[in-house]
Amino acid sequence: MHWLNVVAIVMMIGSGLQIYDASPLFGFVVPPLFTIGGWLGAGIAWHLAFMWLLLANGLAYLLWGFFSGHFRRKLLPVSPGAVLRDIAAALRFKLPHRQGVYNAVQRLLYIGVIFAGVVIVISGLGIWKPVQLWFFTDLCGGYFIARYVHFFAMASIAAFVVIHILLVLMVPKVLPPMITGGKILDTQP
Ligand code: HEM
Repeated sequence: MHWLNVVAIVMMIGSGLQIYDASPLFGFVVPPLFTIGGWLGAGIAWHLAFMWLLLANGLAYLLWGFFSGHFRRKLLPVSPGAVLRDIAAALRFKLPHRQGVYNAVQRLLYIGVIFAGVVIVISGLGIWKPVQLWFFTDLCGGYFIARYVHFFAMASIAAFVVIHILLVLMVPKVLPPMITGGKILDTQP
């Protein structure tokens, strides 16, 4: 699910930026290098196609996470004190990594990006079908505000990805098990 999500997120952000360029919300457009589709129509087609992957994969992950106890076991508890303590330890490069146990910063970031994922899907559906799915459009404050909500949810996910990849580069041994599903034998920090 994690790696399907990476494919979906890359395609959604690239095609979303293509759509953004056709009617920019802010005073800038995105260079073609970072967009997918080449023109508005193709951008929309990619965006709606990969939306189904993001939605199906995301729903499966949420259902599994809740009902298997994964979220309760791995992402909770998380307190402001623990987050501050772990940030301070990370800045001094003294934050140990135990396999299968997320530190407080990871927990906060993962909960945050899951929340941003829910917001981006709800606001996206609200923009796509404001008549049929009006309750999603209304939940976001109307069509116009929903566009901003959608953009800022995308920006939060993009910021998460940058920090997430930097953290993985700092502790590269966590990557192979995430690909193979196997265990790390070395449990030293
Ligand atoms: C090439 C890009 C990426 C790499 C290399 C990567 C790598 C990893 C690794 C190694 C872990 C396990 C961390 C650990 O065991 O301490 C992880 C977990 C996680 N990643 Fe990524 N990731 C990438 C992209 C993404 C994206 C785009 C998202 C979401 C937008 C994401 C969301 C998550 C979440 C939520 C978890 C925790 C999953 C769970 O335990 O349920 N990642 N990632």
